[in-house]
Amino acid sequence: MLYQYHDPLLLEVLVKDLRIAVVGLGYVGLPLLIGLKKAGFRNLVGVDVDEGKIADIRAGGRQGYDSFGRDEDMQAYVRGVQSTPVSTPAELDPVDIAIICVPTPLEKGSTYPDHSYVLAAVESMASKANLIILESTVAPGFTESLQDMYPLVKFAFAPERVSPGTGRDPKECAKVVSATDPVALVAVQALYGELHEEVHAASSTTVAELTKLLENCFRAVNIAFANEFADLARYTGVDPREVVELASTKPWGFMPFWPSAGPGGHCIPVDPFFALSAAPGRSLMRVLHQAVASNRDRVHQIAEIVLAAFDARPEEFAEKNILIAGMGYKPGVDDRRESRGEALAEILRNKGLPVATLEFGDRDLHERIGDAAVIVDMHGQVIGFDEPGWPAKVDCTA
Ligand SMILES: NC(=O)c1ccc[n+]([C@@H]2O[C@H](COP(=O)([O-])OP(=O)(O)OC[C@H]3O[C@@H](n4cnc5c(N)ncnc54)[C@H](O)[C@@H]3O)[C@@H](O)[C@H]2O)c1
Repeated sequence: MLYQYHDPLLLEVLVKDLRIAVVGLGYVGLPLLIGLKKAGFRNLVGVDVDEGKIADIRAGGRQGYDSFGRDEDMQAYVRGVQSTPVSTPAELDPVDIAIICVPTPLEKGSTYPDHSYVLAAVESMASKANLIILESTVAPGFTESLQDMYPLVKFAFAPERVSPGTGRDPKECAKVVSATDPVALVAVQALYGELHEEVHAASSTTVAELTKLLENCFRAVNIAFANEFADLARYTGVDPREVVELASTKPWGFMPFWPSAGPGGHCIPVDPFFALSAAPGRSLMRVLHQAVASNRDRVHQIAEIVLAAFDARPEEFAEKNILIAGMGYKPGVDDRRESRGEALAEILRNKGLPVATLEFGDRDLHERIGDAAVIVDMHGQVIGFDEPGWPAKVDCTA
């Protein structure tokens, strides 16, 4: 068994021969599968319940890769995955390790964590894998509860920390790993040591779960605070960005967060609720409760600013629309989950206003400009529209 070997070279050889299934071939799972392949793992299989995606990957199509936005990334992924077998959970033969990368949203119409995708994926792997590693974000204590449910399998939690759109090599980002069993931890450290420059072992899976949540809650709180401070700066009559730029010159104790329309995507707006689900009542985590509420409200504040700008030019711009530029949840990504642009479009359309949107990768801003009374710049990427007679611009990052 792998765990008996502590010689690092021997471990490297052995770990690369293990049969590993990456379960859930989305934003996290597909790059992980390619990363493992590039690192020299020889016995990989990609698993997904979406039969259309599996069929498409097998046929060398692009459905599974559209999410990567940049064409060159997509091409690289297609090349990398084409020679890797893929399967539905039912068709899968036994594996040594299953790495779970399935969604963890909130339950529909509630703020309660929805672990049902992870539970389904674990159930489908429990009789096929010796070790199940969760990369999906989960609530504190969840991995240990799985260990109680499936005593014959070992469990580990190794949260994904990727930040899409940054172009950073995932290898550079240290990996935090944990396991319910010290022997399983050796295997998990050996595996991720092949993918990351640094691997840090947590003393328990709950510590690693809270580490992941702290990172994302930290962002949620600071995004809310940055917007609050930007409002104060504007109220005081100064440019919020200049304030942040100058504060950033301090070499310690400060990290810049810029004004925005609030966080989008499936992590920062969602993960605070995984932390809150473990907090009794509302007396613990009051700052986080407030930050979540402020972040949700932000897009309504932006809508008020847009409405004022639109109403200010009735004759000049009759029959024209409000053009929202930047529909991905952040610059450089086409992922629409919790898109602030979509939320804003919905609020404005519900008020009966004509809204047009610029999609990720659209390059026709200049052509569309003539139809707009107001341009809403979601990510601070629209430049050069400050001339008199041009549409008003609402820059969500200023
Ligand atoms: N995307 C990111 O930037 C990011 C970053 C850090 C952490 N995470 C976390 O990683 C996890 C995965 O996120 P994602 O963005 O890759 O999700 P995704 O929606 O892009 O992909 C999930 C994939 O899992 C598949 N799936 C669902 N149930 C399944 C099952 N039972 N068996 C097999 N496949 C199944 C879906 O068909 C889909 O292809 C989430 O917990 C998320 O919070 C995501």
